[in-house]
Amino acid sequence: MNITNICCIGAGYVGGPTMSVIAQQCPDIRVTIVDINEARIAAWNSDDLSELPVYEPGLAGVVAEARGRNLFFSTDVDRAIDEAQMVFISVNTPTKTYGKGRGMAADLKYIELCARQIAAVAKDDKIIVEKSTLPVRTADALKSILHNTGNGVNFHILSNPEFLAEGTAVADLHNPDRVLIGGEHPEAVEALVSIYGRWVDRSRILTTNLWSSELSKLTANAFLAQRVSSINAISELCEKTGANVDEVARAIGTDSRIGPKFLKASVGFGGSCFQKDILNLVYIARSYGLQEVADYWEQVIIMNDHQKRRFADNIVQTLYNTVSGKKIVFYGWAFKKDTNDTRESAAIYVADALLAEEAEITVYDPKVPAGQVYRDLDYLGTRSPEENRRLVTVVGDPYEAAGDAHAIAVLTEWDEFRTYDWKRIREHMMKPAFVFDGRKILAANKLDQIGFQYYEVGAG
Ligand code: UDX
Ligand code: ADP
Repeated sequence: MNITNICCIGAGYVGGPTMSVIAQQCPDIRVTIVDINEARIAAWNSDDLSELPVYEPGLAGVVAEARGRNLFFSTDVDRAIDEAQMVFISVNTPTKTYGKGRGMAADLKYIELCARQIAAVAKDDKIIVEKSTLPVRTADALKSILHNTGNGVNFHILSNPEFLAEGTAVADLHNPDRVLIGGEHPEAVEALVSIYGRWVDRSRILTTNLWSSELSKLTANAFLAQRVSSINAISELCEKTGANVDEVARAIGTDSRIGPKFLKASVGFGGSCFQKDILNLVYIARSYGLQEVADYWEQVIIMNDHQKRRFADNIVQTLYNTVSGKKIVFYGWAFKKDTNDTRESAAIYVADALLAEEAEITVYDPKVPAGQVYRDLDYLGTRSPEENRRLVTVVGDPYEAAGDAHAIAVLTEWDEFRTYDWKRIREHMMKPAFVFDGRKILAANKLDQIGFQYYEVGAG
């Protein structure tokens, strides 16, 4: 099978960067990314590359190289499906907010809509690729919908989960640790292998059966999140005992069996994947009656919620047990640096806890616009949109943000925070001036010298 025309349904944080890199690496393949969200497609087509809907280092360059050559963004979903030999499904699979499995299971309604649309439009055989993270055996549901259309078209289903991390998406796509392709039909698998094979060494392209591929994605995210919760659990013990969690992380990370990565204690993990995928894993385990397996993984989430909560509690306690009417500045709102994505960001939950104590919050984030901060808080439904706008201010200048503040809380590890003139920041703050470093990125000694009361996660 020689693939010359690909379509991807869903132009989000996964579909956008992934397909842009495929187009960049395969100039002879026409790649069309479609989405029902017109504003999003317009932004992907914007002449001003700083307007792209996803911020990722290096992404604008990739889009500039391929867009209009063999990379296209469109809202004409039917046409793109019709013309493609291979259709990637990269739509959102959020946690269900209603009915059975509410708050745990993945909501597959967007996936099912895609399958039905493909079934309705397709006139010739196609390879369908699951790119979104999905519960194990979703491919069964896809197969069932696609194969029961009665129009004689054959569909081969592949699972090709994406392991890129936001903030390093382009580098991860250019040089992945591995590409995983699950499928039953050897020719279909080979068709996708040969696409990645243009720039990824074959030894790094793993092929498995469909179910292993689906489950591996959930398992990878669960293991990664578990490491963060493990080191965060130790961080609380460090604060009580005078140990420093960075030193502990270094000491254990040099053991080659443990390894040094993903041992950075923090205010808690966020992002669209970790919580959603673990909840999904827990739900699947429970649905098979595997209570101990479910409880085991659920603890990773319980620990993460605790870490966010105790960061907020520590701010309240340290500020003499009241933050009512006090201005607290958040440096960072995104769930990690180098992205404008705020989904499940720890900042949202820390803000919610402090607002419950009647704090006034001023937010500065280099990439997150004010509208997103308010949408995130409104979505929680804890207080009215008017109340959120009254209590929370979003500013575009970090120094202006600090004026008359009682405390600064670092919620995202943006590099620029390290380079600020912290002496100047302190001058305009209330005294004593507090810094709560939820990312452990500032120099404790330097801030002490300047006169800050400096607190960091995982240090006594
Ligand atoms: C993750 C997986 O890494 C990726 O393979 C998968 O495809 C999608 O989910 P992502 O959520 O984009 O990627 O970012 P990641 O770098 O994994 O960070 C997730 C969260 O954990 C962030 O909030 C980050 O700040 C936090 N984290 C990560 C820590 O607190 N400490 C660490 O040591 C590592
Ligand atoms: P992810 O992080 O998984 O990429 P996003 O929410 O960023 O998730 O992107 C998913 C995209 O899929 C959204 O832009 C959404 O509009 C799009 N989408 C969802 N359902 C459909 C559909 N049936 N047809 C086309 N696009 C869809």
